[in-house]
Amino acid sequence: MKLLMEKGYEGRALSLLGPCDVPTVQPSKTRTAPPRLPQLSETELSRHYSALARRAHGVNDGFYPLGSCTMKYNPAVNEEAASLKGFTAVHPLQPLHTVAGCLEALEETEKYLCAINGMDAFTFQPAAGAHGEFTGLLLIKAYHTHRGEGEKRNKILVPDSAHGTNPASAAMAGYQVVNLPSGPDGCVDLEALRQAAGEDTAGLMLTNPNTVGLFDKNILEITRIVHEAGGLCYYDGANLNAVMGVARPGDMGFDVVHLNLHKTFSTPHGGGGPGSGPVGCKKILEPYLPAPRFEKKDGKWQEKPCPDTIGRVRGFQGNFLVVLRALTYLLMLGREGIPEAARNAVLNANYMKAGLEDLYPMAYPGLCMHEFVMSLEKLKEETGVTALDVAKAMLDEGIHPPTMYFPLIVHEALMVEPTETETRETLDEAVETLRAIYKKAVEDPEYLKACPHRAQIGRPDEVNAARHPVLRYRPEEEKA
Ligand SMILES: Cc1ncc(COP(=O)(O)O)c(C=O)c1O
Repeated sequence: MKLLMEKGYEGRALSLLGPCDVPTVQPSKTRTAPPRLPQLSETELSRHYSALARRAHGVNDGFYPLGSCTMKYNPAVNEEAASLKGFTAVHPLQPLHTVAGCLEALEETEKYLCAINGMDAFTFQPAAGAHGEFTGLLLIKAYHTHRGEGEKRNKILVPDSAHGTNPASAAMAGYQVVNLPSGPDGCVDLEALRQAAGEDTAGLMLTNPNTVGLFDKNILEITRIVHEAGGLCYYDGANLNAVMGVARPGDMGFDVVHLNLHKTFSTPHGGGGPGSGPVGCKKILEPYLPAPRFEKKDGKWQEKPCPDTIGRVRGFQGNFLVVLRALTYLLMLGREGIPEAARNAVLNANYMKAGLEDLYPMAYPGLCMHEFVMSLEKLKEETGVTALDVAKAMLDEGIHPPTMYFPLIVHEALMVEPTETETRETLDEAVETLRAIYKKAVEDPEYLKACPHRAQIGRPDEVNAARHPVLRYRPEEEKA
């Protein structure tokens, strides 16, 4: 398919703009030649994007059980709230009294998130989950520094099942990462944790349910061990959608948490943003939260004094419109709807798992939470068919493949997260499709290895794309 830049011709345009009536300023700093932009009619442009959309698979096209980063339910009403003039036609530098509505919306969301998580305060500055992790770790660092233990406590404990961003954020915050092994049940090995926790422990980072879809039954003991060693406990809340309204990180013993609003509280995840990774904390960490913070006194909004803040981690109050979508979602679902969404996410995952486990071995036994991980190691040994081949075969059947080869501790992993909003019929169809694919893999492995046969894109050279990304368009003349 041709790129926009390769279509159209010089002089064809979407609309004709009148002559510029803005006086020229700083002529030396402005470009002298017009930029090279596509020259297309409006019809050509809209056809181009419609054609691209037809080639993609989104939640509106079919089942999308991508584990760990699922595109969840994103009600259209959220978009309506996020496009209200009162919220969009504002500038973040306006005087506080003119943006009182926006501040109220932030305060209201903070109140709900505190209640759901068992935390005392939230900041909305972080732009995504990983950014929230980094911010949360800076809070932990500030806490130890203020107690004169900043230098000594230089290690963060991270289970081997953790999302890759956890060790990366800890390293970025200047910590040494200590890898904690998982036991055969997929949960943290308590003995290994006891050995690792000590006077140099700044904290532990944990996702619960973890990335293999299991709720760590020893969570109270885990946080107790870390606290006893003088460390703090960080909750990676990207998987909160399995427990929201049912169990609270604060009650599990966590001191600080980030949420992926662009996952748990709607807003499409994936495609590069915008996201929102608010960080919540208990009272002991509140003084270090990013500034500026605001409070209402005698009916008027004003900036709170924050002498111990870690400073800004992002401009203004983060991606405000994503927070608004989350608030709309919270208000729509309410006190009953939030835990019901979590329960349905868990029910749907277990329903699908039960329909598959006699054919597809599960990485860990027992009930799962909102997602489950299958290992296709045995299928690969017997037929040569890999997790990638099965994922490609799913594309032929109109299903977006699950997450592949993650978490790293499971070989030939396929991680399925059906989400709470899929119907029983959709789940039944997906189970039937996966069962048929397995049968085909055993009978005709070569067919599977050549999948997809009907998808728009076959097997792109992923290694080459990752090692030599071409991120900028270059016209043919320039390349030559
Ligand atoms: C468990 C977990 N932690 C952290 C992240 C990082 O979040 P983000 O992609 O918003 O940086 C993700 C991503 O979905 C995740 O699944």
